[in-house]
Amino acid sequence: MHVMIINGSPRVKQYSNTDKILEKFTAGMSENGTTFEQYEISDRKQWDKIREAFDKNENILIALPLYVECIPGLLMEFLESLTPKKDDSKIAFILQSGFAEGIQLRCGESYLKMLAGRLGCRYAGTLVKGDNFGIRLLEGAQREKITDPYTEMGREFAVKGDFSSDECRKFTGPEVFPPFVRAVLGLVFMTVAKRSFKKAAASWGCTRPLDYRPYN
Ligand SMILES: Cc1cc2nc3c(=O)[nH]c(=O)nc-3n(C[C@H](O)[C@H](O)[C@H](O)COP(=O)(O)O)c2cc1C
Repeated sequence: MHVMIINGSPRVKQYSNTDKILEKFTAGMSENGTTFEQYEISDRKQWDKIREAFDKNENILIALPLYVECIPGLLMEFLESLTPKKDDSKIAFILQSGFAEGIQLRCGESYLKMLAGRLGCRYAGTLVKGDNFGIRLLEGAQREKITDPYTEMGREFAVKGDFSSDECRKFTGPEVFPPFVRAVLGLVFMTVAKRSFKKAAASWGCTRPLDYRPYN
């Protein structure tokens, strides 16, 4: 099998968590001789080449981060420029996010299922996984603890050609956190995290409060 892969993150390759996930995923996928070619949406200069590859290939995989509970605007702009396919192509997705609960990715997953049809492709499933904030903040063994499990998912995908196995479904982890964990996280976001968001915003020159709503 040969797979055409699109990294749908607007972040440049060097800083993209999706890219680090794909690095591990493709390592597993390649073990049985599956080959691939990878493109980056963040590089607009590649867009003509990506469209050409999309038209030519029958196995397509789009890996994307969840941005504001949906798909990144830049990826949307690119997808709108594609001509729906008329062959027997298959499309699968890796949908990954910062927050860990599977439930917040389900709306995006439903959208991707519909998108497959709109692109004229058969839907080959979505690998859904949160808890990826740390990838670009951590290095070495700590980063690999998050990214390594994607290698096994790459192996699965190479064998099955889709994300329908039980292993892929289990890979998402908890759908929602237990009440105690939610309460602790709520407290952290109201205190420590709020302070550090304020500090970061101030260091970027933001002078208004973070909850400022001029249009309400
Ligand atoms: C503008 C923006 C919006 C985001 N929105 C969400 C979100 O709604 N839910 C979530 O869990 N993570 C969210 N994240 C976190 C990203 O999904 C996460 O860090 C992801 O791993 C980034 O991948 P990338 O570096 O390849 O873009 C957001 C990140 C950014 C920059």
